[in-house]
Amino acid sequence: MLIVANQKMYRTPKETARLIRKVETGLVGAAGKVQVVVCPTFPGLSLAKEAASKIKIGAQDCHYKQLGQFTGDVSPKSLKEVGCKYIILGHSERRANWGETNEFVNAKAKAVLRNGMKIILCVGEPRSVRVLGTTKSYIKKELREGLEGISKDYAKDVVIAYEPIWAISPGGPDTPEDAFVIARLIRDFLKERFGKQIGKKPKVLYGGSINAKNAKSFTEDESIDGLLVGKASTDAKSLLEIIEKVKNKR
Ligand code: PGA
Repeated sequence: MLIVANQKMYRTPKETARLIRKVETGLVGAAGKVQVVVCPTFPGLSLAKEAASKIKIGAQDCHYKQLGQFTGDVSPKSLKEVGCKYIILGHSERRANWGETNEFVNAKAKAVLRNGMKIILCVGEPRSVRVLGTTKSYIKKELREGLEGISKDYAKDVVIAYEPIWAISPGGPDTPEDAFVIARLIRDFLKERFGKQIGKKPKVLYGGSINAKNAKSFTEDESIDGLLVGKASTDAKSLLEIIEKVKNKR
């Protein structure tokens, strides 16, 4: 299981480092097959890396260029240098707040992969799409455009996180059954896109109001390899409870 702890803008660098130290201690002997990735804000990455040993560090975004006239942005090269292994891309909050398009997210994805890190590509439909019944075609378009031009050599470095936008806190979770339907659709897409065997390599996560109470139910089906957790991952005790619930899964 892959548990990605998206800290969003909830924690300062020192707070995140403290959280990582607590979770590292709690993980001793309890982690099972779980890989935990903590994604702080940019200024927190170095302290987080120092605090982590089993836990891997990820960023919440990056630019698609290596250097240049981009005030306020951060390059994949810099993120690699401070020890990031994963980069979250195309989170619905970035799409909504900063107008990120599939094309823009795709450019970032290529840059991250070329720099030897893994992408966590977020896809998910707004409520209007769910109500309309066109979720499947919406997700396929996000996948097609988000992964455009990415060769199968990179399939092992691709993680897809399915997060229905309306399910993200404070929205309230999807049902596991509906999440599994979309997770299977994502898997089918990946097999078509990268080939039957290599298309099995990318991991598929669910995210949206995950907590210690519902974590297990969202990992019951083998279409799901892990969870992208926001709010509930910003507290060490709650993150450890989630890990505990899924530690014996795959
Ligand atoms: P949430 O956020 O767990 O707080 O719903 C998930 C996410 O947006 O990554």
